[in-house]
Amino acid sequence: MSRIVYVNGDYVPEQDAKVSVFDRGFLFADGVYEVTSVLDGKLIDFEGHAKRLERSLGELDMRAPVTMDELLDIHRELMARNELHEGMIYLQITRGADADRDFAFPDPDKVESSLVLFTQSKSIADSPAAKAGMKVISIEDQRWGRRDIKTVQLLYPSMGKMMAKAAGKDDAWMVEDGAVTEGTSNNAYIVKDGAIITRHLSNAILHGITRAAVLRFAREAQMKVEERPFTIAEAQDADEAFITSASTFVMPVVEVDGVALGDGTPGPVATRLREIYLEESRKTAI
Ligand code: PDD
Repeated sequence: MSRIVYVNGDYVPEQDAKVSVFDRGFLFADGVYEVTSVLDGKLIDFEGHAKRLERSLGELDMRAPVTMDELLDIHRELMARNELHEGMIYLQITRGADADRDFAFPDPDKVESSLVLFTQSKSIADSPAAKAGMKVISIEDQRWGRRDIKTVQLLYPSMGKMMAKAAGKDDAWMVEDGAVTEGTSNNAYIVKDGAIITRHLSNAILHGITRAAVLRFAREAQMKVEERPFTIAEAQDADEAFITSASTFVMPVVEVDGVALGDGTPGPVATRLREIYLEESRKTAI
C-alpha cells in the first residue's frame, strides 16, 4: 500500500510527493528534521520534539511554515490516513526553493520554507534487537561543530553506519579528543558500578529527547547519573552500555570494538530503563 505523504499543504500518494530541484534542502542540506515515535497510535513526547524543532529553526534563522499546533494536527492526520499504529513520523523543514542556486539565504518573505512529513511503520516496542543487544565500533567524529542543531546533513553518520556494517557490526560510536560524542543516530551511555554515564549537553551532541526522558526516569528511580565525557577504554571496561533515540528507545549495547561487555548480553540497567521508558512514555503519549 502506498503511503500518504504531506508536502507543503497537501496530502498526496508518495509517488506524487515532489519538491523542487532548487530546494535548498537538496542543494545545500539547508534543512532541519525531527523523528517522533508512535506507540498505540499516539505520539511520544511531541512537545519535546516541537521545542527542539523551534530551537533548530531559530539557530539557523529559518521560519516554520506552520505553527506547532498545526504541526500536531498534521502529525495526527498523517497517522489517521496511514493507519499508523506503531513506528515513526519523519518531519523535515528546509529553507525552500530559491529561483536559482545561491549560497546566500533567500529573503524569507519571498521564499517560503518547505515542509514534508511521512510515516514509517516499524515495531519499536517489541524489538528482537533489544533482546540481543547491539555491537558497536568506534570511529573518529568528523562532523561539523553544531551537532546540537538537528540538520539533515547526515552524510558522515551514514558513512559511519557503513563502516560499522563493513566490520559486521550494528553501529558506530564517534570519538572526538579521546571521548565518545554519540552514536551515528543516537545518544551513547555506559554503566559502571550502578552509575549511568553519558556525555554532558553541549554543541558536540544532539540533545536527545529520549535522553532527557530516560535520565529523568533514571533519577526518579534513584539511579545515579553522571553527565560527563567517557572514553572507549572506559566503555570496554563498563558493566554494560546502551543507546537511546526516538526510533530505538533504550537499546542495549553488548560489544565495543570487539570487546564484550559483562557477559555479552543486555545488562539489567538498560533492560530496566527500557521497560520504564515504554511504560512512562505510553502514559504521556498524545
Ligand atoms: N536520530 N544523536 C543523533 C546524532 C541523532 O541523530 C539522534 C536521533 C539522537 C537521539 O535523539 P532523540 O532521542 O531525540 O531521537 C542523538 C533520529 C532518530 C534519526 O536520525 O533517525
